[in-house]
Amino acid sequence: MPSPPPPNHIAIIMDGNGRWAKRQGLMRLLGHRAGVKTVRRIVEDCQRLGVGVLTLYAFSTENWNRPKEEVSGLMDLLKNFLRSELERMLKNGVRLQAIGQLQNLPTEVYEVLQETISKTAHCQGMVLNLALSYGGRSELLQAMQAISTKCVTGSIRPEDITEAMVDEHLYTAGLPEPDLLIRTGGEARLSNFLLWQSSYAEIFFTDTAWPDFNLKDLTGAISDYHGRQRRFGRTGEQVADDATTADVTVESTQ
Ligand code: FPP
Repeated sequence: MPSPPPPNHIAIIMDGNGRWAKRQGLMRLLGHRAGVKTVRRIVEDCQRLGVGVLTLYAFSTENWNRPKEEVSGLMDLLKNFLRSELERMLKNGVRLQAIGQLQNLPTEVYEVLQETISKTAHCQGMVLNLALSYGGRSELLQAMQAISTKCVTGSIRPEDITEAMVDEHLYTAGLPEPDLLIRTGGEARLSNFLLWQSSYAEIFFTDTAWPDFNLKDLTGAISDYHGRQRRFGRTGEQVADDATTADVTVESTQ
């Protein structure tokens, strides 16, 4: 039997770099450096598996409150990652996107980010979406401000506001919702990540720290996802009936 397709959109909270480093008596930044190597591997793995969108939570709005040296170390890692990965992204058809308060990034990082986004804009393969200076609450807040401005200026009425309109005002406008959300590092919380978009994501928590996360962990999370029944508020029987009807339709058209 052919294996089922991978989730179209996988979103990952890459946690545990600092503890990984500490366990080995290393500086936190070396944990983040090891985390970048995992990013490289997992991007390639997801692309080979046929994932449509991979969103990585690389830096949150709250991460600005970390010690200055850690913040600037992370920004350097990000800049170097973008510079070193451009060729590989172009070769593999990976299109880079970014979500968050990007204007708050240091100028050099912002510029290399925008440059990589525009140089990969024609790529037709997987979308690599980096969440940078990202916070779900501030994303919702700016959407509410933009929509309420439209109400005040009279271009829409409050009763015209729809879920689709909210979607269009988020940083993720145009991207599908995450199907599978993975958090590494042993914590079980969303930490302000994709709060609106993850309403129906299947969530997978693993104790594995991000630097140790590998293809086996990824395929494990994907097979766990395949074992779940996504009901979107309906009953299990309704979903099973729909799947049977879909199978019959596929068979009769083959
Ligand atoms: C959380 O681990 C991780 C981060 C705040 C940063 C994640 C960044 C990277 C993996 C590298 C840069 C990213 C790219 C895309 C090049 P933590 O430090 O909170 O770990 P801890 O909870 O063990 O302290």
